[in-house]
Amino acid sequence: MTVSSAPAKVYVFGEHAVVYGEPAVPCAIQRRARVTVERREDRRIRVRADDLTLDGFTVRWGGDPDDRPDVDAPEPLVEAAMSYLDGAIEQALDAAGRSDVGFDVTVESDIPLGAGLGSSAAVVVATIDAATRELGVDLDARTIADRAYRVEYEVQDGQASRADTFCSAVGGAVRVQGEDCRRVDDPPALPFVIGYDGNAGDTGELVAGVRSLREEYGFAADTVGAIGDIVRSGRTALDDGDVAEIGRLMDFNHGLLSALGVSSRSLDAMVWAAREAGADGAKLTGAGGGGCVVALDSTDRTRTALEYTPGCETAFRAELDTEGVRADE
Ligand code: PMV
Repeated sequence: MTVSSAPAKVYVFGEHAVVYGEPAVPCAIQRRARVTVERREDRRIRVRADDLTLDGFTVRWGGDPDDRPDVDAPEPLVEAAMSYLDGAIEQALDAAGRSDVGFDVTVESDIPLGAGLGSSAAVVVATIDAATRELGVDLDARTIADRAYRVEYEVQDGQASRADTFCSAVGGAVRVQGEDCRRVDDPPALPFVIGYDGNAGDTGELVAGVRSLREEYGFAADTVGAIGDIVRSGRTALDDGDVAEIGRLMDFNHGLLSALGVSSRSLDAMVWAAREAGADGAKLTGAGGGGCVVALDSTDRTRTALEYTPGCETAFRAELDTEGVRADE
């Protein structure tokens, strides 16, 4: 039996635009997906996933790979969750040069599904690490990130960046632009506060929406470029440790994501609640459509304000996780 875990992430800047070659800065946070695998000799894959909470429901499935999980959740999200796991196992078998074994896989996660915190990337990264180690092969974090990216790319119909998977594999704050993925040295302490509306967005659908808007309207293409400009300014602010400026740029970034149509009423409500509570800045994180916002506030005011905001299901503080994928007990 082998156990691995990998962290969730928030985007400080740059989601969506990163898909078109602009830079992005995601940061790993201390919430993890934990995957246990045990080798089977019969080439079957059995999955148990009791903690992939989704809009108040819990995804549970087990048995044959063809089994449908019995869950009252949007079909595309359940399909995607299953495809991510299948893809991760395929990558692990390929890396180990094996096709003659199967696995019992158990997923435990405290990352809400489809909420912009990179739940799928964390599960895929941890699954590839655990399954390869179970077969006696040790992959480095960059190789795991690369294989995990291939899974996301396939499941999201070729519309994925390397940001989520690289961040979850290596941990810390990272900067991703196309194939160029690196860690940010000595990032400042960023006082993340996260608000979660209990909803989920369909990443594939949201990315496709931005793509068609960008093809149809010059303003949308310019907006994607403007997000890139914000990220470039944000890198200087990160180097300078200027939290107030990082927050200001996050506010701009949220406005541009709204213009691209990926925010929602509850995400906007949480962003405004955070700003009015005195946060340095606030924006949606991840694909949008519903899910989480991330704000910067070293006091308790933003978290408290979010807890009283209609549409916010839960609010919590999140610390940067400097550790990426790791072997667990
Ligand atoms: O919502 P998440 O955690 O799946 O993040 C999606 C981020 C996008 O930039 C919208 C897509 C991508 O692959 O980078």
